Amino acid sequence: MFTIITGAQFGDEGKGKIVDMLASQYDIVARFQGGDNAGHTVVAEGKTYKLHLIPSGVLFDARLLIGPGTVMNPKILMDEIAMLAENGVEVTPSRLGIDAKTSIIMPYHVALDTLRESKRAVKIGTTSRGIGFAYIDKVGRDEIQMADIADENRFRKRLLEIAPQKENAIKELGGDMKIARSEVDEYIEIGKKLKPYITDVSKEINLALKHGKNILAEGAQGTHLDIIHGTQKFVTSSSTVAGSACASLGVGPKKVDKVIGVIKAYITRVGEGPLPTEQKNEVGEHLREKGREFGTTTGRPRRCGWFDLPLAGKSINLNGYTGLALTKLDVLSGLNPLKLCIGYEIDGKQLDYPPELSDDIARCKPIYIDLPGWKEDISGAESFQNLPENARLYIELLEELMGVEIEYVSVGPGRKQTFMK
Ligand code: IMP
Repeated sequence: MFTIITGAQFGDEGKGKIVDMLASQYDIVARFQGGDNAGHTVVAEGKTYKLHLIPSGVLFDARLLIGPGTVMNPKILMDEIAMLAENGVEVTPSRLGIDAKTSIIMPYHVALDTLRESKRAVKIGTTSRGIGFAYIDKVGRDEIQMADIADENRFRKRLLEIAPQKENAIKELGGDMKIARSEVDEYIEIGKKLKPYITDVSKEINLALKHGKNILAEGAQGTHLDIIHGTQKFVTSSSTVAGSACASLGVGPKKVDKVIGVIKAYITRVGEGPLPTEQKNEVGEHLREKGREFGTTTGRPRRCGWFDLPLAGKSINLNGYTGLALTKLDVLSGLNPLKLCIGYEIDGKQLDYPPELSDDIARCKPIYIDLPGWKEDISGAESFQNLPENARLYIELLEELMGVEIEYVSVGPGRKQTFMK
């Protein structure tokens, strides 16, 4: 079985938690795009793990794969491996495989990202992790790959060719950075340590599927941050939609069995870009405080708003979801009425689907319907039937309006706080 999980909004939907919950049913969990701009929080047995690169299934026995479509900062990966080891989770080469072609994030990518963002008149609000510039190098065929840092001679040769142009690019942006010899040595040391982890991800996955194994492809960020279909320019630099899992992991689309969308009971966004239902008031404060809506990677407060059906509808189209996981329903407790955005008004017209351009989305005025809220703390609910009537109505209405089944409901960060609907 091949299942793809993606975020249906702007990231931070709680994918890590849902992957962690499903991981016990899968033999392999594979990351297919993004880098350490992602942040997955997994809470297990009272411990909170904040992961950026290692797939969320790490706390189970599944084999973990980092695919060639990702951009990987090897220093961050080493830190995560060390942090997990301190907590008794050994990430050995039999547990984790990294594709030989995975793009390596170099210090100059981080410098370029930070400098470029500081020069932008209209900011994107990137995570400053060098993501965009690492992908530029992939497309520009100037990338350094996992296989390069694992081979000292190849790495040095590659750097000789690439480093001068990067140093010039940094200079052009007003910076001054030379790649220090100590930094090169550090990458070579890490390369030696990571060499045993190198694998051919596509080959592994296709073989596993042939043997009837279960594979879970774990997306990072969210649908509307997709580089092709998202709210440009306020997007990340990779394709975050489900189809990207096939292309990036090298698995044919006919092999896909399920596509699960993770969607919050409200909406959030970090960084800049349109968010029609944003609440810059006490409702937004309630969602941010109760939902602990602060970035896992940057600590930035997330912008919060009501559930946006037009954006959800587009996400369903872009991903072809076969089912949804609705997260953070508990955060809505205490809000009354609840507002649900069912469409937009723009230039005197009503829309039930987002306009294509970011500038137009930014001009959209949400059309809301009011729904009755509930006061009860639902974080201990263990089944759909346990929920207050108005919470059940909220879920059922969302399901009806989206036309996709909500298979899982989550009411808190802990492992036990998710149930099947
Ligand atoms: P970048 O991916 O660092 O280039 O940032 C581009 C945009 O994507 C910014 O608005 C970031 O805040 C956003 N972004 C990147 N990764 C995540 C994530 O994991 N969750 C939410 N937003 C993200």
